[in-house]
Amino acid sequence: MNKEDVLRQIAEEILNCKKCPLWQHRNKAVPGEGNANAEIMFIGEAPGYHEDIQGRPFVGAAGKLLTQLITSLGLKREDVYITNVVKCRPPNNRDPRPDEIAACSPYLDKQMKVISPRIIVTLGRHSTLYLFSKAGIDISGISQVRGRLFNLTLNDFNVIVIPTYHPAAALYNPRLRDALERDFKFIKKVLTGEYWEEKKKTVTLEEFF
Ligand code: URA
Ligand code: SF4
Repeated sequence: MNKEDVLRQIAEEILNCKKCPLWQHRNKAVPGEGNANAEIMFIGEAPGYHEDIQGRPFVGAAGKLLTQLITSLGLKREDVYITNVVKCRPPNNRDPRPDEIAACSPYLDKQMKVISPRIIVTLGRHSTLYLFSKAGIDISGISQVRGRLFNLTLNDFNVIVIPTYHPAAALYNPRLRDALERDFKFIKKVLTGEYWEEKKKTVTLEEFF
């Protein structure tokens, strides 16, 4: 089976899933979408109102901002892979509960493994805490890690993780929006390799002095 087929099979399982109580509230489960060979993967929290209606991730107001930010990387939505930690919408957009995350996250784990992106961008607290806990690292919140690069070992593979704020949080908060845009400039440098070029220069200067 090729990667697309494996992703389709995972999506099929999600659409029929009843492993946690959230299935009772959903219109459509939202498995995720994008390029099976994506170099970069974005992980949000859970579907919202519009995502639940359409069965697609990040199609509401936060999605519009995410799409703009992806464009700022010189990429299209079809170039990347976009999904969430939890695949069904929690009622009234409440936070997903630990038992729901525990029930649903094996799907995300499989998606990450199949796609094996070079970079994972976690959007907001939930996906950030989830990936760090998978790597065996306890963090208290997102502000201590956002906008920085981490090499995490998730079970059996290594990946660069760059946490940033959730686009929904940035919609009505100019300070968070600035930070989110700055983080995407940083992500672009990592994508293009400029980040390592700059790092090399810094090392050379340190060695010089
Ligand atoms: N917020 C999320 O975390 N995910 C979506 O898909 C939409 C909004
Ligand atoms: Fe299954 Fe995840 Fe939906 Fe719960 S949220 S029913 S675990 S797909």
